[in-house]
Amino acid sequence: MKSLQGKTIILGITGGIAAYKAAALTSKLTQQGAEVHVIMTASAKQFITELTLQSLSKQRVYSDTFQERDPSSISHIDLADAADLVLVAPATANIIAKMAHGIADDMLSTTLLATTAPVMIAPAMNVHMYQHPAVLSNMDILYNRGVQFIEPGEGLLACGYVGKGRLEEPEAIVKVVGNFFALQQDRKSGPLSGRKVVITAGGTVERIDPVRYISNDSSGKMGFALARTARAMGAEVTLIAARTDEAPPRDAGITLVRVQSAQDMYEAVMERWEDCDILIKAAAVADYRPRQSAESKIKKSGDTLTLELVKTTDILESLGKAKKGQFLIGFAAETGDTEFYAKDKLARKNLDLIIANDVTAAGAGFGTDTNIVKVYDAEGLVLDLPLISKDEVARQVLRLAAERAAGVSL
Ligand code: CTP
Repeated sequence: MKSLQGKTIILGITGGIAAYKAAALTSKLTQQGAEVHVIMTASAKQFITELTLQSLSKQRVYSDTFQERDPSSISHIDLADAADLVLVAPATANIIAKMAHGIADDMLSTTLLATTAPVMIAPAMNVHMYQHPAVLSNMDILYNRGVQFIEPGEGLLACGYVGKGRLEEPEAIVKVVGNFFALQQDRKSGPLSGRKVVITAGGTVERIDPVRYISNDSSGKMGFALARTARAMGAEVTLIAARTDEAPPRDAGITLVRVQSAQDMYEAVMERWEDCDILIKAAAVADYRPRQSAESKIKKSGDTLTLELVKTTDILESLGKAKKGQFLIGFAAETGDTEFYAKDKLARKNLDLIIANDVTAAGAGFGTDTNIVKVYDAEGLVLDLPLISKDEVARQVLRLAAERAAGVSL
């Protein structure tokens, strides 16, 4: 089975020496069944001819916005609408800058603005250009906008330098494109497709004063793994993240809500509770916060300082009380008597499942990429997972949740 059968891909080719590789790329994409419409920039035509790409794609090649051959249509709009994916390979520093700032001064940049299809770019340029702050900040803008990157490889560049900047090989690009469509298919037909999943992650921040706070060691990794995996299984995900060690996933289909305190998280979660199918509270929420958060930095004075702490709202307990068919999963991070406390929390907070871990075990708990968990429902133990990656924990838990929540009607 050809991996790109039935897919329409716009291949944007920009003017770098790597443009010569676009011929092999066009050919391989076409061989995998894709309908490839090439748009070249004027500089790309200095490196490779339209005729080559037309012969390989068996399609007309576009480069001039104003050379409309069919009076009944406008090419850049038609192409933009028809695309399942717009791939720019090679992408020069120039097109990256134009995309970042919305400049539309030729056929390719105009099409990139007009399309609502996913966009993927494979940068290729001199190593110093690749590291230039302007290029880095433009790439950052695109990354945050959901553009997907096919990172350049390292090696001998055409300019003579050895470093990062060489266009990824056509075979590798075709593989990334194939995986992208396979993932898209999973999202359409995955076990969580059409379901709304809310996930909380990270440790809440309870302010003492403008420069000091109380928090905990939660890295956010377990919550991020759950968000990415739920998305890959087809869910529409809202990720409510407090303080985390790494940047949260920015995949399309994951809506990120940043919060600080337990109170912020409570409000963010409650706002989405009615309209949610599955909610997973992976965040480590502070149980207490300072009674008052000082407006200005607290000055050093006596030998001791007493902070009065007051209880925060237990978010999970509030959700459990307000449950109307939603499937609710909590975590129990314990340092002993894990099973006893986990079962107690499950009952007390009216949860459907609880994921318990002993955070003192090597390879489990805060900050690691792995975890060792036991999952309980009201009847008892349902999953006993050995030391595995947090991604795998997420897969197993979400598979179980998908099965069980399927019977729930809202
Ligand atoms: N939790 C919450 N709101 C709080 C405290 C905890 O929603 N104010 C949630 C956490 O997100 C987690 C679960 O409750 O999913 C268990 O958190 P944990 O700190 O282990 O439990 P607590 O109920 O706080 O119990 P204890 O601190 O006594 O162990």
